[in-house]
Amino acid sequence: MSRKGRFGKASVRDADVAGRTVLVRADLNVPLAGCRVGDDTRIRAALPTIELLLERGARVVLCSHLGRPRGRDPELSMAPVATRLGELLGTDVGLAPGVAGDDVAAAVGRLRAGRVLLLENTRWEPGEKENDPALAAALAALADVYVNDAFGAAHRAHASTEGVAHLLPAYAGLLLEREVRELTSVLADPERPLVVVLGGAKVTDKVGVIDRFLEIADRILIGGAMCFSFFRAQGRRTGDSLVEEDGIGPARRALERAAEGDCELELPVDLVLGASFSADADPVATEGVDVPDGMVGLDIGPRSAARYAEAIAAAGTVFWNGPMGAFELAPFAAGTRAVADAVAAADATTIVGGGDSAAALAEFGLADRVGWLSTGGGASLELIEGKPLPGVEALLDAGEE
Ligand code: 3PG
Repeated sequence: MSRKGRFGKASVRDADVAGRTVLVRADLNVPLAGCRVGDDTRIRAALPTIELLLERGARVVLCSHLGRPRGRDPELSMAPVATRLGELLGTDVGLAPGVAGDDVAAAVGRLRAGRVLLLENTRWEPGEKENDPALAAALAALADVYVNDAFGAAHRAHASTEGVAHLLPAYAGLLLEREVRELTSVLADPERPLVVVLGGAKVTDKVGVIDRFLEIADRILIGGAMCFSFFRAQGRRTGDSLVEEDGIGPARRALERAAEGDCELELPVDLVLGASFSADADPVATEGVDVPDGMVGLDIGPRSAARYAEAIAAAGTVFWNGPMGAFELAPFAAGTRAVADAVAAADATTIVGGGDSAAALAEFGLADRVGWLSTGGGASLELIEGKPLPGVEALLDAGEE
């Protein structure tokens, strides 16, 4: 890796932006609560790059997707994001009348140095997801320089994340740089033992990550509904628990690989069950992990939580992605809470990825107690798996001479 990090001359720190118009792609795909922003974490994470550019006298044209709209869905307008960003920056943030085209170009033309204009939801344009060269060219025509800070969308080869990067001098934003650095540090030379905690509903979402960590981690601790695919692979009863049928084969193969290798793949030893997925369901702790018919596994049990917390406390590096159970239902939050507490207290390098784990940490008031909280869900998993991220690849050594 070069002295300047993986992005070499393509870091926004080295970009010449004074008096120029800079198109910044951020991941401002935030949850909405009515017509307001429900959680502004991703907007806050984008601030350092925006502020750096404003301080250096750039005109900032900012863009992002929001949700998965079909066409110009007004419910997925960027208006609430513009309002919240303006509050955080302490200055008005204008909202363009669309993503590209004459009206948008006119609004960009009126933008003064040191000010921000937010484009509308890039996914209002069908060409965004198709990585249409015409949309990429229309975006490039708005600016002199391109900065990609949208780590959370870097696994998407879209017009605003990939296509446009080939048409302008292109740089990595501060968040994207840091995300890549923090996440690759888990893989490169982690302090040992490297303990990986994986939860969530689907094994198929995590199978590439499990494969990668079976090669390099010391222990992988499994929780969340995906443990039921593993239990079925072991021939156990899973009752009415959520089982991803397509995940049973991959789970079996992961268990076989783990048996042959040096990394321990650990499953819960007890569970907390409920009669249904409901906050009113009475929590029932089990001795073992077989689930009777009519019951649903909704959390790892107290003995499993204690084992996982102990493993995390002894770790040199911890990577956590995915809750241990249905933490949004109070009676079934204890397993996720125990992992969150242990990660927050660990004397280790701690990295957390994925929206649900981040939401759990925020709910428990622990979000600022982890070493690095990734803004990327799918993007962080694909980076760990070793897949090239199109939004990152397009930037490598792309800056101006
Ligand atoms: C995310 O929330 O993970 C990113 O913003 C990407 O969103 P997408 O999965 O809709 O592409």
